[in-house]
Amino acid sequence: MMERKQLKRYLEKHKHKAGERIFLASPHMGGKEIDYVNEAFETNWIAPLGPHVLHFEQELAEMVGIKAAAAASSGTAAIHLALKVLGIQPGDEIFCSTFTFAATVNPIIYEQAIPVFIDSDYQSWNMCPKALQKAFDAAEIKGKLPKAVIVVNLYGQSADYDQLLAICNQYQVPIIEDAAESLGATYKGKATGTIGELGIFSFNGNKIITASNGGMLVSNNIDYIEKSIFLSTQAREDARHYEHKEIGYNYRMSNVSAGIGRGQLHVLKSRVQKKKAIFEKYKKDLSTISALEMMPICEYGESNYWLSPIIIHDTAIDPNTIIDALEAENIESRPLWKPMHLQPVFQQYELFTVHPETSVAEDLFLRGVCLPSDTKMTTQQQNRIIDVIKGVFQ
Ligand SMILES: Cc1ncc(COP(=O)(O)O)c(C=O)c1O
Repeated sequence: MMERKQLKRYLEKHKHKAGERIFLASPHMGGKEIDYVNEAFETNWIAPLGPHVLHFEQELAEMVGIKAAAAASSGTAAIHLALKVLGIQPGDEIFCSTFTFAATVNPIIYEQAIPVFIDSDYQSWNMCPKALQKAFDAAEIKGKLPKAVIVVNLYGQSADYDQLLAICNQYQVPIIEDAAESLGATYKGKATGTIGELGIFSFNGNKIITASNGGMLVSNNIDYIEKSIFLSTQAREDARHYEHKEIGYNYRMSNVSAGIGRGQLHVLKSRVQKKKAIFEKYKKDLSTISALEMMPICEYGESNYWLSPIIIHDTAIDPNTIIDALEAENIESRPLWKPMHLQPVFQQYELFTVHPETSVAEDLFLRGVCLPSDTKMTTQQQNRIIDVIKGVFQ
């Protein structure tokens, strides 16, 4: 209900302006998508499954260099399936990045498991290995280790997996990589999403490539992927009639969506290049403002630069001042993710930080803004954005 009201208001507000609005990140078709969609229509593979789904899985798996992939209806569904195939039970603890979108955590709650939040570090903005170690130390003392660690690759940049894996391997706890935002990025030459035991990608409308909606679960463990496909098709047993021995989900990607996704794979590389160019232009042109800094880019990998976040050092300027100034010019920007431990719905869960009284994620949230990173944005439009920001600091 609430969502419909919001959507109506949004459409009303942007009725006359949509054509000229600069978006944070919006769908950007490459041209081939429509051919795949037409093929789906012509062959009447409109109903849930179909050849595009299988091809999309194979093509994506090949592209990132992993053995198997399962296309799902969303990235959130893919995270849920990852927890299911790992056998997460009610009461199990799952360590999870606090600096993320709620979709990383919600599936933990679906399974009545318990999220334990881990803070970020300033180097990558991703899960801090020292905070993770503290959480494991506490878990060991308590005598209850987590069943999995969900590590998020924020805004398209990989977390520092050598350090995180060393800790998790010591306790034999699997990592689920939430690479919803980082398709196309690498860590030490390896594609993000392929480093943990399981990885997930999202293809919702604002991601680096989209399938209009959708997600993908990937793993080198083929059993996990087969099990996830079984669960995502209502856990239907292999019988002529409908036979069910366990609870399943309707989580499979549709053939039409997969057609869009396949088309988008053709342009992934060029989207990463454009996103990088956008980030670097902001970095160069805003370098005259000493109170501003771009999100740090780590040398251990290549980000996909999904969004271009800035951080403000000048406490006199509130991030909302920048967001409001841009909005007045019909330009979309937004705050950084509000950390999960600050969300009313997750308030009762524990947070591990390196310094007892301070959270890095919280500090970044209070000082950051995601600047528009739409790959359809022209240089003139980006110059306009830069002028507005410079105006705020003058
Ligand atoms: C970090 C993160 N995890 C999970 C998701 C969930 O993906 P989806 O919207 O496809 O369910 C998103 C994006 O929405 C995300 O940014």
